[in-house]
Amino acid sequence: MELYRFLQQQGFGGRKACRELVEAGLVQLDGQLAHNWRMALDMTAPPALTVNGEPWPLLPQPCYLMLHKPAGYETSHQPQHHRSVYSLLPWQFANLGISAVGRLDVDTTGMLLFSSDGQFVHSLSSPRKVIPKCYQVTARHALTLALAQQLLDGVLLHDETAPLAATAVTLLDEFRLNMSITQGKYHQVKRMVAAAGNRVEALHRIGMGELLLGDLPQGQWRLLTDSELALLGYTPPR
Ligand code: URA
Repeated sequence: MELYRFLQQQGFGGRKACRELVEAGLVQLDGQLAHNWRMALDMTAPPALTVNGEPWPLLPQPCYLMLHKPAGYETSHQPQHHRSVYSLLPWQFANLGISAVGRLDVDTTGMLLFSSDGQFVHSLSSPRKVIPKCYQVTARHALTLALAQQLLDGVLLHDETAPLAATAVTLLDEFRLNMSITQGKYHQVKRMVAAAGNRVEALHRIGMGELLLGDLPQGQWRLLTDSELALLGYTPPR
């Protein structure tokens, strides 16, 4: 593959922009300055890439990533009142057609997945995909076993024809519980907790299926491995 094409695939812009990066002496491959924007690269052993002095983590095609979303960011390319979650990712991702898998509310923190693979984004956001999403809820009022049971039995929300039930609920302490849901309705957890007579003060997504946020620091992102994708029941088309 020619160098400019490789840079394009890594999100550094169009052919002209990538050519200019090389001609400006800003591209290093395996620590060596690259001079020829059309030089051929052996993609069976891709070189370590540095652009403008910054090492660039090579992105697989398509790519899959996890962000630890902080509060105060909208899950939207065109945010209305806050910053966009996309502003937490390197600008190169904007050139790769990355989309978020579903949405988290502005004040919700925790795991948010993104991908340039439309099939992945679609299949995980689809109402037919039953991947449980696990949230940690901090409630305003003391939690009770009766409330946990109500969430498990199902609560009827406005505009819904059938009750929605949590697939698992674990009380952690007086004000915190973990709950899993398989649907992704608008403000679903907050509305379910409200319908059961309490109120969500803070909401944090811990994981999806077997995939956990773990100790990824808030505001940071990382690529997902193939074995993590397998935890979501997905095999990437590579
Ligand atoms: N449920 C909510 O109420 N908010 C979220 O952000 C996610 C699930």
